[in-house]
Amino acid sequence: MEKYVINGGKPLQGEVEISGAKNAAVAIIPAALMVDGVCRIENIPEISDTDMLLTILTHLGAKVRLINRSTIEIDSREVRFCDAPFDLMRKIRASYYLIGAMLSRFGHAKTTMPGGCNFGVRPIDQHIKGMTALGADIDVRNGFVYADAPDGRLHGAKIYLDKVSVGATMNIILAATMASGRTIIENAAREPHIVDLANFLNSMGADVRGAGTDTIKINGVEKLHGGSYSIIPDQIEAGTYMVAAAATGGEILVKNVIPKHLECISAKLRETGTIVQEYEDSVLVKSNGNLRKANVKTLPYPGFPTDMQPQMGTLLCMANGTSVITEGIYDNRFKYVNELRKMGADIQVDGRIAIIEGGNALTGAPVMACDLRAGAAMVIAGLCASGTTEIEDIHFIERGYENFVGKLRALGADISIIDFPDDTENADKVISIG
Ligand code: EPU
Repeated sequence: MEKYVINGGKPLQGEVEISGAKNAAVAIIPAALMVDGVCRIENIPEISDTDMLLTILTHLGAKVRLINRSTIEIDSREVRFCDAPFDLMRKIRASYYLIGAMLSRFGHAKTTMPGGCNFGVRPIDQHIKGMTALGADIDVRNGFVYADAPDGRLHGAKIYLDKVSVGATMNIILAATMASGRTIIENAAREPHIVDLANFLNSMGADVRGAGTDTIKINGVEKLHGGSYSIIPDQIEAGTYMVAAAATGGEILVKNVIPKHLECISAKLRETGTIVQEYEDSVLVKSNGNLRKANVKTLPYPGFPTDMQPQMGTLLCMANGTSVITEGIYDNRFKYVNELRKMGADIQVDGRIAIIEGGNALTGAPVMACDLRAGAAMVIAGLCASGTTEIEDIHFIERGYENFVGKLRALGADISIIDFPDDTENADKVISIG
């Protein structure tokens, strides 16, 4: 087992290069299954979620060739329908994209119910509603999802999503790309990774229009051809370094970003008194550590992202005054608060609202990464705290942050990974992966 050990109290300084977007890559890799040719994908983040998806594709018969650290070629011409490695599927949320991709490619799919960070109930009813409207028969039984297109091919339909869902929007796009006729998704999610998936598919011959708005129109095509595509930079990885700069009273040039995607984060940081300067493909974040309170409500894009809520919650512990965070997406995304309290934070949680009494200095403590972004929040807390912070369950963090320790060390952080014996090896352990 490994844990992070952080000796905090040093402002982060320097430059950091942002990797490709996790939540785009985890949809684009399954989408490569639908391509009748070779697709070259650049800027794939080197994280455990993408590794697992590539392993699943290989198992299905795709040839995956590593060109360099972040570029791969996937040849799906020989893929055949078969049982995929369900133990891997169960571990990642994004395995639900295999339903849309396999339905498109084979006319049927069998997957496990997806894993995912445990933020309360995370149903996939909108995915199922969409696929059913496209003509699929879907049966969820014993933890598996069985999907079949009775005539071997789905057909276009008009679908109104009852909830703005990133996953359902992307999955329906995948399923509709090779359906016959036209599909219209209303009340679609608008996140940058939705636009990225649409751009990927279009560069392989699909006809997906309107991604980035709440109405997406897909004219089904017979097949997709090979091509080359580069994934956008990760909005949340960039936001995490921006918050880390502000929280530690440091100065970081965050490079290889699309500043427009970061506006909701930049605006909130400016409210706290942090200086954020935008350039063409980078942002400079600077703070003297004298932070002001701010209220945050998480919302679908272009609102403040729920995936930045724990990191921002940590920063607000350092800000003077009382801040209120309202979680607008998930029922239970405040599990990290208990860990922050171990470090001296004063936070009260009532349902989806957290009230943070800021301005108390944090002190190092042994804590856990409860999930991916909660883990990133604990790293930021450890970087700000006096003394030593040890963070366990770091496998959650490594699902979404490429070379986190290396990048932080280059910014001057005193962080290392150490091995420790696993006392819980024989104990029952609940694993929730997000
Ligand atoms: N929802 C439903 N029914 C559905 C789908 C969603 O009720 O069929 C609800 C969810 O329970 C939630 C809300 O709708 O309350 C939004 O969920 P969404 O479908 O948008 O989330 P997701 O697709 O499961 C993706 C990201 C998450 C990110 C959310 C919101 C991936 C693999 N995951 O999840 O990323 O929090 O969108 O932006 O893309 C992360 O990266 O740390 C992470 C958790």
